[in-house]
Amino acid sequence: MSVVPKYAQKPIIVISGVGSGTGTGNATAREFGRNGYRVALIARHAGSLTAAADEINGWPEGEAAAFPIAEYNKAEIHRVFAEIKKTWPGSEIRVAVYNTGHRVAKPFLDLTQYDIDQSIQTNIYGGFAFAQEAILSFREYEINELGYRGALIFTSATSAWRGNPHFAAFAAGKHGVRALSQSLNKEFGKQNIHVAHCIVDGTIKTKITTRIFGNPEWEKNPDVRLDPVSIAKAYWYLAHQDRTAWTWELDLRPAHENW
Ligand SMILES: *[C@@H]1O[C@H](CO)[C@@H](O)[C@H](O)[C@H]1NC(C)=O
Repeated sequence: MSVVPKYAQKPIIVISGVGSGTGTGNATAREFGRNGYRVALIARHAGSLTAAADEINGWPEGEAAAFPIAEYNKAEIHRVFAEIKKTWPGSEIRVAVYNTGHRVAKPFLDLTQYDIDQSIQTNIYGGFAFAQEAILSFREYEINELGYRGALIFTSATSAWRGNPHFAAFAAGKHGVRALSQSLNKEFGKQNIHVAHCIVDGTIKTKITTRIFGNPEWEKNPDVRLDPVSIAKAYWYLAHQDRTAWTWELDLRPAHENW
């Protein structure tokens, strides 16, 4: 496993979308929190957010803080980034993970204005605002020994490049995330800012999916589902790549993928 580059203080990872229930935000927080990062967690639901931060703060070297947000808009995201910098003055935000999204799967004619608004708000408006704040932060920092100022990772889905029945609203949002990510790695790669779009294709094993599926065979079988800890390890790898071989898009699936 690559080690954390040297900085004057422990670097910060900002992760948004911890209360989504996917488990990816929490697992990523733990992976980076255990390996030398201060962890700033953003989500709309303060309960699971604070619990995830408290768990990390309970470790001898763990440092985390929760930043609840009312809505994924520009003003709110600007406010939380300012609070994060105030919480750990002098510490640099070197990794930012946009793990926020609104998953809606419905027959097209049943989609409501709310469904469409939520997909566009969380994936696109939120993704744009988060990316602007992350990049504005990275641009203030020196290029580190791995050759980058910062790494921005988007959690995404196959719906980012292919629509399907019942996925119109979700796919529109995720197509937007992919378009954003591609535009950013073209524009900011030249400034040594790494932007990566990560397609996660399949069902992730979490408390919620385990309950909904109610299928212990599925839960026990690593061939058929994604494990959030494995996704977190992929994010660690993305965030510490050498700049001579950066990944712009990653595609994670369980071995027996069947989409
Ligand atoms: C985070 O993940 C750990 C390990 O899987 C789990 O024990 C914990 O309950 C999770 N935290 C939250 C807030 O879901």
